[in-house]
Amino acid sequence: MGSSCGSGSSCSSGSCGSADAAIAQQDMAITSSLGKIKNKILVMSGKGGVGKSTVSTNLALGLAKKGYKVGLMDVDLHGPDICRMLNLTDKLHESQTQGRNLIPPMQYGDNLKVISLEYMMEDRDDPIIWRGPLKVQAIRQFVADMDWGDLDYLIIDAPPGTGDEPLTVAQTIKDAHALVVTTPQEVALADVRKSLNFCKQVKMKVIGMVENMSGFICPHCEETVEIFKSGGGEKTAAEFGVTFLGKVPIDPRVVVGGDDGSPYLSSEEESPAIAAFASVISNVEKEVANKPVTLGNIDSGCGCGGTCNPDTCDC
Ligand SMILES: Nc1ncnc2c1ncn2[C@@H]1O[C@H](COP(=O)(O)OP(=O)(O)OP(=O)(O)O)[C@@H](O)[C@H]1O
Ligand SMILES: [Mg+2]
Ligand SMILES: [Zn+2]
Repeated sequence: MGSSCGSGSSCSSGSCGSADAAIAQQDMAITSSLGKIKNKILVMSGKGGVGKSTVSTNLALGLAKKGYKVGLMDVDLHGPDICRMLNLTDKLHESQTQGRNLIPPMQYGDNLKVISLEYMMEDRDDPIIWRGPLKVQAIRQFVADMDWGDLDYLIIDAPPGTGDEPLTVAQTIKDAHALVVTTPQEVALADVRKSLNFCKQVKMKVIGMVENMSGFICPHCEETVEIFKSGGGEKTAAEFGVTFLGKVPIDPRVVVGGDDGSPYLSSEEESPAIAAFASVISNVEKEVANKPVTLGNIDSGCGCGGTCNPDTCDC
């Protein structure tokens, strides 16, 4: 184990049992927490700013509005956005972290529980310098130490790329499915291919792809203007044999809603963007119904029918 056991320089080989025991205990807490959550969806993208947090937030809100019990976990540790998008200002109190009790997530309406790093921070403007192992630990605690309870969906908002955060989610939540967000431009689509290849490598199933910022809805006449090319996401999805969950157009009201904490896409208004989002949500429901997500059901993609342990299988 050496110095990586976390018990400092006094550690000598063979005396690291307590660290191992702590990890084993945390593993058990993770398994117990995840056992009560039916569907886990990791929202990811190769490129930044394509609308992952917007999609995560509105997907979670839309599902909660339909009566599902939903959790929203913000694992973007460098730039957590979810609290701002939902106007959540709750702070975790020290008394809530004492003892071995699970920590209550923030509550948004009746059906949505939310966890973000901002909830844990004394001062939200404090910079945090993250090293890989710290990120892994933070994400494991988001699962192990939180009182998620019984959930139909856990939506996980990732930072862009294929770094520590999505990797930790893939390793910790073995039955998580990826939802890949892209924009129609060619450069974003090249990045999406990286995300899809990452999913292949870590053997994470892809629930589907969303093309965000697909056309612009004119606020005056509601006509759609194709600013970037449209349809590239659908083509890439077909190329990878991944379900295309739908296109969401650019609507300036989405930006305002995201900035002031009242997500526009969950409003009662009728607009092409809201209709597009509703369709993405029902496609997610369909995908989940078609492919029940249970641990025993993981398609490891290794050709042995999902009966192997994807961690150790080399067939
Ligand atoms: N369909 C849309 N129409 C208009 N604006 C949008 C749309 N989707 C996202 N936006 C806006 O684009 C900006 C980036 O969106 P968002 O923060 O969701 O992206 P992200 O992929 O999570 O970014 P990051 O990679 O930094 O985490 C936000 O200001 C958001 O309000
Ligand atoms: Mg984001
Ligand atoms: Zn117009």
